[in-house]
Amino acid sequence: MAEMSDPTESINRVRDEALAELAVVKTAAELEAFRIKYLGSKGVLKAQMKLLGSVPKEQKPALGQKLNAVRGEVTGAFELRKGELEGGAAAARDGVDVTLPGLASGMGNRHILMKVVDELVELFGRMGFSVASGPEVEDEFHNFIALNIPRQHPARDPMDNFYLEENAERGTLNAERDASSLRLLRTQTSTVQIRVMEKQAPPIRVVIPGRVYRPDTHDATHLSMFHQLEALVVDRDVTMVDLKSTILQFVKAYFGADTQVRFRPSFFPFTEPSAEVDVFFPDRNKWIELGGCGMVHPNVLRAVKLDPEEFSGWAFGFGIERIAMRKYGINDIRMFVENDVRFLRQF
Ligand code: DAH
Repeated sequence: MAEMSDPTESINRVRDEALAELAVVKTAAELEAFRIKYLGSKGVLKAQMKLLGSVPKEQKPALGQKLNAVRGEVTGAFELRKGELEGGAAAARDGVDVTLPGLASGMGNRHILMKVVDELVELFGRMGFSVASGPEVEDEFHNFIALNIPRQHPARDPMDNFYLEENAERGTLNAERDASSLRLLRTQTSTVQIRVMEKQAPPIRVVIPGRVYRPDTHDATHLSMFHQLEALVVDRDVTMVDLKSTILQFVKAYFGADTQVRFRPSFFPFTEPSAEVDVFFPDRNKWIELGGCGMVHPNVLRAVKLDPEEFSGWAFGFGIERIAMRKYGINDIRMFVENDVRFLRQF
């Protein structure tokens, strides 16, 4: 008959295995798995109780004591490990390392183009101009008709304007057009000249910074959305001397006292006479066009029910991106809209 293995030895082996396993437990989940395996109601130690049935009666008390002692030992080691794990987790959760560098929250800054708008508004404010604004979605009356741009004028070509889809849906784009209902994204801030004169009687002295939209292909000098600074002065006895001297003052104040300016004869439907304004930049050895200007056309005054015999005015519309590019040495207009913080942070 084969010798039965020593029950005490079997219990010791279970104990050694249990303690070895416990030593490498690292998580709460592993600890719970250990508890179920060794201390649970169907666990290994419970199973060891069955050994009691296999030994002679006189050995049972000693074996029972041994089983209880091992169970106590494993339970004690389990509780100890549990305490260590919980303590570690709590320390990790609550611990604040005051020596770590802080998390700096990134400070933004005003966009360079908006800074230029602020500078321009401030500069013209000192020359007595107030600020006006108008809608970017405009009707035909304000974008064309009141600005003396007749129906057949090429400026109205659908290829050169963002007409809204609602017009096509209502069949107004090609059919006989209802002037007041055809809508588009404004192509120029000159629209706001009309809106100002509709609301306010002369004397008028305003600048109008704002976005305009044109279906242009994007490149270093073109975007389909850009900004203009419009100016309008209407009063009695306003002459081209006022126009020229105001623009000269502006250019010299903004770009430097020795900046050269020239006026080139031009044509705009809403001014007569009209001119284009160029500024010379010696670093590039180049004349750069700022935009157009002129004396407000009598038909524009009539469109807002002002008598051209009584009132006269002048206006200009300059590209703000162009002004910003010349002032701050930016050589690609697309940088304004690409949102590259390496660019934006420089200003
Ligand atoms: N609206 C013109 C354009 O976008 C610029 C312009 C020219 C504005 C002459 C004016 C002006 O006020 O008088 O090209």
